[in-house]
Amino acid sequence: MTRTTAFAICLGGLLFMNCNPENPEPQDLSEDKLKALIADMTIEEKVGQMTQLNLDVISVGEVYNLKEPHELDMEKLRHALVDKHTGSILNVGGHAYSLEHWQEIITEIQKVATTKTRQRIPIIYGIDAIHGANYIMEGTLFPQPLAQAATWNPQQVKRCAEITAYETRASGVPWNFSPVLDLGRQPLWSRMFETYGEDVTLAKAMGNACIEGYQGEDASDPERVSACMKHFLGYSWSFSGKDRTPVYMHERQLRQYFLPTFEAAIDQGALSVMINSGELNGIPVHADYDILTKLLREELGYDGVAVTDWEDIMKLRDNHKVAATLKEAVKMAVMAGIDMSMTPNDYSFTDLLIELVKEGEVPESRLDESVYRILLMKQRLGLFEDPYYFDTHDYSLVGSKAHDDVNYATACQAITLLKNENNTLPLRTDMPEKILVTGPGANSLSLLNGAWSRTWQGTETKYDDESKYTVVEAMQDRLLDKVVHIESCSLDVLDEEGLESIKSRASEFTQIVVCLGELPATEIPGNIDDLTLEMAQLEMVKELSTLNLPMTAVLLFNRPRIISSIEPMLDAIVMAYNPGDEGGLAIADVLTGKVNPSGRLPITYPRHVNDLITYDHKYTEQFDNDFSKNAYDPQYPFGHGLSYSTVSYSGLKLSTDTLEIGQDLTVTISVKNESKTYDHDEVIMLFVNDRVASITPSVRKLRAFDRVSIPKGAAKEVSLTISSDDLKFVGQDLTWIAEEGWFEVEVGGMKTELYLKND
Ligand code: BGC
Repeated sequence: MTRTTAFAICLGGLLFMNCNPENPEPQDLSEDKLKALIADMTIEEKVGQMTQLNLDVISVGEVYNLKEPHELDMEKLRHALVDKHTGSILNVGGHAYSLEHWQEIITEIQKVATTKTRQRIPIIYGIDAIHGANYIMEGTLFPQPLAQAATWNPQQVKRCAEITAYETRASGVPWNFSPVLDLGRQPLWSRMFETYGEDVTLAKAMGNACIEGYQGEDASDPERVSACMKHFLGYSWSFSGKDRTPVYMHERQLRQYFLPTFEAAIDQGALSVMINSGELNGIPVHADYDILTKLLREELGYDGVAVTDWEDIMKLRDNHKVAATLKEAVKMAVMAGIDMSMTPNDYSFTDLLIELVKEGEVPESRLDESVYRILLMKQRLGLFEDPYYFDTHDYSLVGSKAHDDVNYATACQAITLLKNENNTLPLRTDMPEKILVTGPGANSLSLLNGAWSRTWQGTETKYDDESKYTVVEAMQDRLLDKVVHIESCSLDVLDEEGLESIKSRASEFTQIVVCLGELPATEIPGNIDDLTLEMAQLEMVKELSTLNLPMTAVLLFNRPRIISSIEPMLDAIVMAYNPGDEGGLAIADVLTGKVNPSGRLPITYPRHVNDLITYDHKYTEQFDNDFSKNAYDPQYPFGHGLSYSTVSYSGLKLSTDTLEIGQDLTVTISVKNESKTYDHDEVIMLFVNDRVASITPSVRKLRAFDRVSIPKGAAKEVSLTISSDDLKFVGQDLTWIAEEGWFEVEVGGMKTELYLKND
């Protein structure tokens, strides 16, 4: 017996007792023992831990063309884990599987990892469960993150994340590539719906609530998963609006807007981070030492795992052209600071990194750092202790009514009423005539759910859950034969016959609900050249408007598609975002008045294609002294949203009108629900706006918010507290500073002045 095998058996005995799925035993993995384990690893084993493979590579069939039904290929699995020492697997092999099949896959993988490999290290499996356990057939599909942000309710976001964690863990998968912490400040971007909107304060609160829901107090809990904050850093703000195209951004803007969500997530304890696939100021982030090591590790002190995005080391050679060879690309990314390569379809990363270390081009100590972080994460997830935890834990709530209830409540809180002239909504259901429901979103579950729903792009209707309601099915469920559904347009082609039929039956209808929509899509497949809604849908609305009936539009959009040419023809407009599998029922209940809408826009809804200005713009984006050419003119402003009830604000009070550095400021206001019919959920938003500053100040800046329920006729006093730190900005020297001077405090249209003292 060689020294290494003897030691391995000893380590196997001491550290990884649970090599037998029938005999789980607890582990003791102190830092020293993890280090001892790493010291015993060969270069090949270390590099293997740093490699993440696509499920396709270990399945029967070809990559991207697997045999159906899915089956693991045991020889490929053995090769990956035993010969190549692979430490991580991801993804889905094309589409969602049943919970049972997921558990079978994970059991087989862990069995090989913990019984056939020398060191018996369990595999860490990762997946994109971005709005619920979207790759488990039974999983709950929640509203997409942008819709969740529209609830302005971090507790609700946390609850959705807890359920997502529970259902994902149930499948044997402990690592979720979520949340997206990129700010949604570029409306053209195909991944707007994956963000928590354009504002730093809102996105920070939602991101942290999500991470708290995923990880809980202890991510080794069999109902929790590791979060993966993504995509570090500056991914969402491409100049062209197209995914994975160049971002040009001054470091001040990066630090002021795009870094804080990640900093907050690090403080919250996010266990992993995924790297931005694009380039920032001419440098692909996967090759950027300043971002991946100096900023992430040295400045922010982050100790979690940094995983690349899909094939992103290859893209350094193939797309970004900063490396002539793949070997050079591997060296660049590893030396810049990545820990794990989502390679994911071959062993090129593994083989080349081994060569690089053996040739002295990459120091082994660089591998040791990464492997330590990876093993630590496996330990933090309890995988060493019991990789088969799902055999014994009760997961009977997956896809349950209890989870649907949370889903429905979230969709109800998200749906945002943008316009309601002449009290068009709630729909009148007391008349003999019927309600016409039409438009491409009327009868589609895919449009309710958007991308990352059973498949990556979310367009395969064969995976729809038949028990869920589309908008028209939900309206028929609620209003029975009062609802008539006639098609009049697909997403991009007018249905002339349908329109004729509608026109010929016009006298049967009292009102029209037209469901406008956007094809589910994400990443590069979701790139568009024009933010304007498809011409055919605009034409459809114009045709329908000739009937002179009250018309309500329901918007099922991945991003704010421009509707300014038809907006005057619409009496009511409901932004539903991608509200998820319960979205049909929630929309029906909002339209009919069972639910009082309470969502508020987490983004600015633009009016013009070339006027994509966020709410926290600068003064020069609002006025220009003489010409009124720079007037800020969105279709609907950030924070906008109506209800069937109205509230009045009064009695704005500050705990002090002169704030000292280090002090807190409490802002109190009274909010009265003026309705005699409806209970009302109000989102109280506190804006504190710097009057004059050494870096041009934003016209408005959200600093805190709260969502409160106010019964009909009642009033509530609400207090929001911020600290003087919340009034800081990134100054000329790129550090956060507080400057003495006047601020405007603004809540619910009421305003007062505050002086910040800094001497
Ligand atoms: C996306 C990531 C995702 C990864 C794994 C990439 O194409 O950009 O957000 O986590 O694929 O599916």
